[in-house]
Amino acid sequence: MSFNKQRYDTMQFNRCGNSGLKLPAISMGCWNNFGVRAEPGNMKALLRRCFDLGITHFDLANNYGPPPGSAEENVGRVLASEFGSHRDELIISTKAGYLMWPGPYGDWGSRKYILASLDQSLKRLGLDYVDIFYHHRRDPETPLEESMGALDSAVRQGKAIYAGISNYNGEDSKKVMEIARRLNLPLVINQSAYSMIRRNIEGSLVPYAREIGMGIIAFCPLAQGLLTDKYLRGIPADSRAANPDGTLQAAGVNESTISKVGKLNELAQARGQSLAQMALMWVLRDAGVTSALIGASKVRQLEENVAALENRAFSEDEFSAIDRILAG
Ligand SMILES: NC(=O)c1ccc[n+]([C@@H]2O[C@H](COP(=O)([O-])OP(=O)(O)OC[C@H]3O[C@@H](n4cnc5c(N)ncnc54)[C@H](OP(=O)(O)O)[C@@H]3O)[C@@H](O)[C@H]2O)c1
Repeated sequence: MSFNKQRYDTMQFNRCGNSGLKLPAISMGCWNNFGVRAEPGNMKALLRRCFDLGITHFDLANNYGPPPGSAEENVGRVLASEFGSHRDELIISTKAGYLMWPGPYGDWGSRKYILASLDQSLKRLGLDYVDIFYHHRRDPETPLEESMGALDSAVRQGKAIYAGISNYNGEDSKKVMEIARRLNLPLVINQSAYSMIRRNIEGSLVPYAREIGMGIIAFCPLAQGLLTDKYLRGIPADSRAANPDGTLQAAGVNESTISKVGKLNELAQARGQSLAQMALMWVLRDAGVTSALIGASKVRQLEENVAALENRAFSEDEFSAIDRILAG
């Protein structure tokens, strides 16, 4: 089956910091919905629809599943069966930084762990290289030079095209960018949590990233589904909060959050958007954010989310109203 020939006509592509890499404004993450219990037909349909809609970037990590590693295996199968001749149109990323195997070499940020993990990821994905290889979190006990040196080796060995960091704050991002410049390492992106209800990077990372020319990809822009209208009337059976494999605790769906979500939903409706659409465009309002890294359990969610790009503009009144609701 071939892909939509118009797939590049409507998606917006944003430059990642000062690099040559452009990412789609909306990228797809495989943290949930791609584990061992995921339905193969749905995984295939999700990734195919992404590509049809111009979402050229799929994000993974060694530990995505459950169990850890299974998301890479499942996505690898779909890449092999569906995307064979389109590899050069895709940006596939993976990461190392969290627990993968027992003992002192299966976690954190040593050169030993990072390089062994990448070899395992490539095997599971069935790929010769990934486009972005991330260090998933800063290791307070390993010198930054060592973790960045491991990313540099991965690039020199042709196993990664670009390098990235994730969950590093602004000051550490500045430090690793200096190391990367010395190494001539293409360290282009920081993957960080960012949404209407998790705004801490606004002061702690965004200004630094702009200063050093690093892109930001915002993960969980819908707060795992909380910033949609789905939890306004309880927890639906087919939602992440009801899924035993899901990473959103039902306790996160609490009264104070849902009361704000209800007000945000009314504001979104007044803009002629769904709340999910408004939440995504809000994350992308700052040019420093290269891409909103979403997840999806259903094809229709992808369609709704990409359609958000038709209305990206906010008035100052809308920004103030959103801030008032969030502060309330
Ligand atoms: N670097 C890191 O440390 C880190 C950490 C976490 C995540 N990430 C990355 O970020 C990616 C995205 O995270 P996320 O999945 O939590 O992102 P998210 O976009 O905040 O939440 C996605 C979930 O929201 C629901 N949803 C999406 N669109 C919807 C719509 N239009 N209407 C109603 N519900 C909708 C779906 O959940 P339902 O199942 O309820 O339908 C979907 O699975 C991950 O896959 C991963 O790649 C990185």
